[in-house]
Parts: sequence; structure tokens; C-alpha cells
Amino acid sequence: MQKILKRGHSPCHRGARAYNRPMPRLVIVTPDAEGFRAYISRQLPQLELAIAPSDDLRAAQALVREADMLLAWQLPPDLLTEAPRLRWVQSFGAGVDHLLAANLPAGVTITRIVDAFGPAMAEYVLGYCCATTLNIRRILEQQRRAEWKPFNASLLRGKTAVVVGLGSIGRDVCRLLDAAGLRVLGVSRSGRPLPEVKLTFRVDELERALPEADFLVLALPLTPATRSLLGARQLELLPPDAWLINIARGAIVIESDLLAALRRGAIGGAVLDVFEQEPLPPEHPFWRMDNVIVTPHVAGPDDTELIARQFVENYRRLESGQPLLGVVDRARGY
Ligand code: OXD
Repeated sequence: MQKILKRGHSPCHRGARAYNRPMPRLVIVTPDAEGFRAYISRQLPQLELAIAPSDDLRAAQALVREADMLLAWQLPPDLLTEAPRLRWVQSFGAGVDHLLAANLPAGVTITRIVDAFGPAMAEYVLGYCCATTLNIRRILEQQRRAEWKPFNASLLRGKTAVVVGLGSIGRDVCRLLDAAGLRVLGVSRSGRPLPEVKLTFRVDELERALPEADFLVLALPLTPATRSLLGARQLELLPPDAWLINIARGAIVIESDLLAALRRGAIGGAVLDVFEQEPLPPEHPFWRMDNVIVTPHVAGPDDTELIARQFVENYRRLESGQPLLGVVDRARGY
């Protein structure tokens, strides 16, 4: 990235000069790109903008060959066969496992969305914690049968949540659960204490935290180190009425082990927003299990403006020589 910046001269033309052409070219790789085009072209008229067609690989490849920057969630195989000008890829997401799978050349900077999705994801977690304690499923069934059958909800206050992953999203989750009166324990790579967390464990101490969890919330990136972090052995350590809430990536949990634990009633249930295979195939047993709530990868909002705003901010930073937001450390995987 520094290489690009150093080539710039006058501040107002730095972006164009940096890319050594009259208009730097951004290619947006998504089937649903018009919203991005509208927002970015309003904010950055100095960019040439193109949308990679999702149904025509050759046309998309021709655009990418001329691209200086990409805005993408994942890059279809073969799209990047040739991209000599490419210097920067801004991800649509907080997680970049999909982009890293594309093996981008070493000189290409990858940035991810930061400090944007946490509030919505924290509300998702709090909402589904309440859905379990209020037994929303039972209420809806009773209503369908016009059945007046009072029962007591259990209280969220005083329950323990173990939040795995204490980046900005995990910390937003911790703050909201703490405000709702839960005892919040955290698990992170460093195990560093944080104000919103009563006690923090290092990820290699995860098994000490699991028996404490009424709710186990996964909010960590998928990396080679976190793939399959939770299998039969770890699920076995959870209390029998604990709920798993996964807002991270499906592959962090060994799905077949989770399925077996849920079938045996070894844990209370699971709220799953992410899956090894997405969309979750219609024949998958999760769809039909009473102790599973399936949501279609919506915990992090698909908010064009939120995402485009960070792209614009980063482009301006690039032009003025400031560090970009959300630069991914490829060795760490986030
Ligand atoms: C993300 C997601 O990574 O929505 O941002 O999954």
C-alpha cells in the first residue's frame, strides 16, 4: 500500500496519480452492486467504477484485469487469473475467510469492515437469548392452537454467557449482555482482561470456560487455528441446558458433532446463523429440529451504506497517506 501512496503528488490528484492513470478503477464483485455504485460514485466521482457481471466470467475477468481496487465478499475461482494492477481489496464483511481463500498476490492489501456490525450483532445475540428464556417457540405453538397455558419464563439476569472472540463485535456483544445482567466471561487469543468481561480465558483455556456457559456465543474469525474449535469433546463440557449461539462461521464447529449433541439433548439448543454450507440445504436436519433456531446469515446486517462508507473512508485515507481501517494480517487470518 505504501508503494501506491508514495507515488502520489498533489493532494487533489493523488489518487489518480497513485494509480498512474487518469481515473483509478474500482471493480465491484457482487450480483447486487447498484447500491454500491450509486453511493460510491456520489462520494468519489474521481473513480472509474465497474461492476463485474456474475453470469459472464470472461467479461468479469476483463474488468478485473484493469482493476486497481476491488470491493468483494468472495472472489469466484478463476476470476483473478490476471490482475496486474490490483493493489487493494475491500471486503464487504468483517470476516475475510472467503477472500483469503482466493490466494490474492502478496502485494495486495486486504481490508475488512470494522466497528460497523457489532451493534446489530449484539442485538441479535441478546434477542435470541431472550427468545430461549421466554420460550418463544412454546408461546407461538400455544398461540397457533389458541391454547391459554401460563408458564414462567426463566430469567436472563444472573445467567452466564461465554463469548468466544473479543474483537469489536465480540466486545459489543459482551457490553449488551452485561447491561442485561448476565455474567459475561470471555475467551480470546491473548486472554487479556477487558472492562466488559468478568473474566477472560485464553483460547487454549476454552475448556475451563465451557462448563460455566448458559450461553456460548461464537464471535471469532474462521482461521486455520479456529476451524473445528468446537467438537464432541468441547460440546460435552457444556451444561446440559446450555445454548450455543453461532454468529461467526459454521466451520468453527464440527457440524456433525453438534448435530449428534443436539439429537441426544446433550445441550439445550443452538441458534445458528452460519453453516458449513450456505445456503443451508433444505434437507438439512437443523431446519426441522425443535431445539435449533436457523437464521439465514443475517446477524451482521447487509447494509450497503455501512459498507460503502468504509470503502470511501479508506479510499480517502489512501489518498491522504493515512493508514487504512481494517487492514488484514494474512498470517493471522483477520
Ligand atoms: C461478515 C459476515 O463476515 O456477515 O461480515 O459474515
